[in-house]
This record gives sequence, structure tokens and C-alpha cells, in this order.
Amino acid sequence: MRLKDRVALVTGAAQGIGRAIAARLVADGAQVILADVNAAGAEAAAGEMGAAAAFGTDIADPQAVAALFEAVGARWGALDVLVNNAAIVPFIPWDEVDLAHWNRIIGVNLTGTFLMCRAATDQMRARGRAGRVINIASNTVFAGTPNMAAYVAAKAGVVGLTRALATELGPHGITVNAVSPGLIESDGVKASPHAQAFEFVEMLQAIKGRGQPEHVADVVAFLASDDARWMTGQLVNVDAGMIRH
Ligand SMILES: NC(=O)c1ccc[n+]([C@@H]2O[C@H](COP(=O)([O-])OP(=O)(O)OC[C@H]3O[C@@H](n4cnc5c(N)ncnc54)[C@H](O)[C@@H]3O)[C@@H](O)[C@H]2O)c1
Repeated sequence: MRLKDRVALVTGAAQGIGRAIAARLVADGAQVILADVNAAGAEAAAGEMGAAAAFGTDIADPQAVAALFEAVGARWGALDVLVNNAAIVPFIPWDEVDLAHWNRIIGVNLTGTFLMCRAATDQMRARGRAGRVINIASNTVFAGTPNMAAYVAAKAGVVGLTRALATELGPHGITVNAVSPGLIESDGVKASPHAQAFEFVEMLQAIKGRGQPEHVADVVAFLASDDARWMTGQLVNVDAGMIRH
């Protein structure tokens, strides 16, 4: 119960890694808010895991994010923990990457993360509350994984944002860290061509097997806890040792 009475919000929590993170934070005693563009999925997941609330929110829509934090402010004042997990995980060769695709991926994966950080940390500071921001990046920023150019660029942006915010928010008691998972058998990956890469990725991993959402959730729970109080601006790689940076 190391997060007892903390208020935590996880984006993209209707399924996959976000859902596992939310469930793990509930198990650690936090009041957890699920936010996902899939409102029905978030509702169902929140009910099953005993979360505090669920919101249908598109993180790329500034008005939707403003409405979400109005509700958060009214009920809880401010978050203790924000986990920016929501993202689109595309599979699209470079020759098919056009401006519309680029704008969509950057809009959700990078600008959406910015909008959430902006609103959440403004509230934390107004309440004089220490806080934790945990951004889900990806080890594709090291590997330069094919068929994901806009995604890799957006995730590298998330890593840069993490480092810059850590510097500016540290004096306010807010830590900002990122986690970079390797290939994880999430709902999204299972339903995509990425699922065919497991054999190849396993060859590169120091620890053998398939990455599961819980492998990421356990590390996020640590970063959300007091045990990680002396860490900020870090990128923690959770990929069975595929990348050693
Ligand atoms: N699965 C992997 O192999 C892997 C590897 C590295 C990083 N990641 C990262 O982990 C995170 C979760 O990935 P996953 O595999 O569980 O994905 P997933 O596709 O299974 O789930 C993503 C969730 O995000 C939600 N979402 C998408 N766009 C949204 C928006 N605009 N606003 C709000 N919610 C939105 C979806 O509805 C869905 O519930 C992502 O940030 C992804 O980039 C995943």
C-alpha cells in the first residue's frame, strides 16, 4: 500500500500497458483515475479493477484535457501522480508517411503528452503539492525501429520533454521520469503486425521471453512511490536488456 491515499491518473488505461499500470497503482492503494479516448473501455476497466473514476478523454484535444482537469480539480484538488501512457502505435513504412499521418502521431503522442503535463503540473503547483510525472516513451528511440518514423520522433520528443521538465519542476517538488518499454504483448500489439517481431526481439534480449504489460507497470509503480524520490529526468529502459544504454 505504498501509494495509499495518493491520487493517480493514467492515460490510455482502457487496455494494454495503461490498464496494467492503473491496476498496479490501485493494488498499491492509490485512488486511480482512468482516462482514455475509449470511454466505454475505460469505464469497464475502472469497474473491474476498483478504480476511483473513468473519463472519456482525447489527450490531443485541448478542450477535452481542460474539462478533465476541471473535474480532477473539483474532486481531488490536484493529482499526486500523472502517468502519460496513451499513444497511437502505428505500423507504416516510411514511403507511406505523409503529413496527415505525421501530424496525427505527433498530435497524440507528443502534443497530447504536453497538454497533460501542462494542466497536471499547473494544478500540482497551485496546490503546493509534490508530484510525480511518468511518461511512457519507447526503446524504439534507441533502436530506430522501422515502420514507425513519426512514432519514434514523437517518443524522442517525449524523452526531451521529460528531461526539460525535470529541470524546471524539480524546485517545485515535482519529479519527471520516463520509462522506455521494449516490445510488450499488449492488446494493441497483439492486434498489429508488430506481433510478428517477438521472435526477432527475443534474440536481442538478455532475458528471454515476451514482455508483458505488468513488467512495465511494476517499474512505473516504483517511480510513482517515495522510493524514487531522488530520481528525476531519467529514462528507465524496461526491455529485458535488449538495449543497454
Ligand atoms: N506495446 C509495446 O510494445 C510498447 C513498446 C514501447 C512503448 N509502448 C508505449 O506504451 C504505451 C501503451 O501502449 P500499448 O501497447 O498498451 O497500446 P494499446 O494500443 O494497447 O493501448 C493504447 C491505449 O491508448 C488509448 N488512446 C489512443 N489514443 C488516445 C488519445 N488520443 N487519447 C486518449 N487515449 C488514447 C487507446 O484507446 C488505448 O486504450 C504507449 O505509449 C506506447 O507507445 C508500447
